[in-house]
Amino acid sequence: MADRSGIFAGEDPFQIARDWLAEAEKTEPNDPNAIALATVDADGLPNARMVLLKEIEADAFVFFTNYGSAKGREIEGSGKAAFVMHWKSLRRQIRVRGITTREEGAQADEYFSSRSLKSRLGAWASRQSEPLASRTALMAEVAKITATHGTAPKRPPFWGGIRIHPVEIEFWADGAFRLHDRFRWKRDTPGASWNIDRLNP
Ligand SMILES: Cc1cc2nc3c(=O)[nH]c(=O)nc-3n(C[C@H](O)[C@H](O)[C@H](O)COP(=O)(O)O)c2cc1C
Repeated sequence: MADRSGIFAGEDPFQIARDWLAEAEKTEPNDPNAIALATVDADGLPNARMVLLKEIEADAFVFFTNYGSAKGREIEGSGKAAFVMHWKSLRRQIRVRGITTREEGAQADEYFSSRSLKSRLGAWASRQSEPLASRTALMAEVAKITATHGTAPKRPPFWGGIRIHPVEIEFWADGAFRLHDRFRWKRDTPGASWNIDRLNP
């Protein structure tokens, strides 16, 4: 694109995303890697919630969750997800839409083992998104898990990564008089080459 320069420069959208996140890490008060993750349920009803983006890979984005949660089941059903990340301090957003696959191998094991022991035990104890009788019941479950799994719990089989292979990535930056800059990378399938367009604000 002739007029794409500055913070939008370069052909690789994953590198631009990494650069923007690195800037946000310096300016955001909390969780610069937080993304609003959108899924649809079996009726096509949209759902959204925050999760933490843990990897920006060469050709995909990865977050971690409980596969039995609402989001886990919705992603299992549709095989698709979208997310937006917005940095108030930078007045910028990135939007992503794509196809999902699970990361439940060595990379998920490695990330799980990097978490604090309490978080690892918590992942085992929580039937995420299921009704819970009380906080006390949850703490009893944590105590039970601690007794059975000890100090080196393995990654639960129901917990791991979701990889989003994008077909669309849009970068948005606030412009004067609401004449914002928007650039969209779009392709038919993951792995195909990108078409890049500037979009009207
Ligand atoms: C800033 C922030 C980060 C979060 N990160 C995660 C995460 O990485 N993984 C996760 O499963 N839930 C995360 N949560 C909790 C989710 O928003 C949500 O409550 C939970 O995953 C259940 O969602 P579901 O019922 O739609 O599956 C986060 C919440 C907030 C506010």
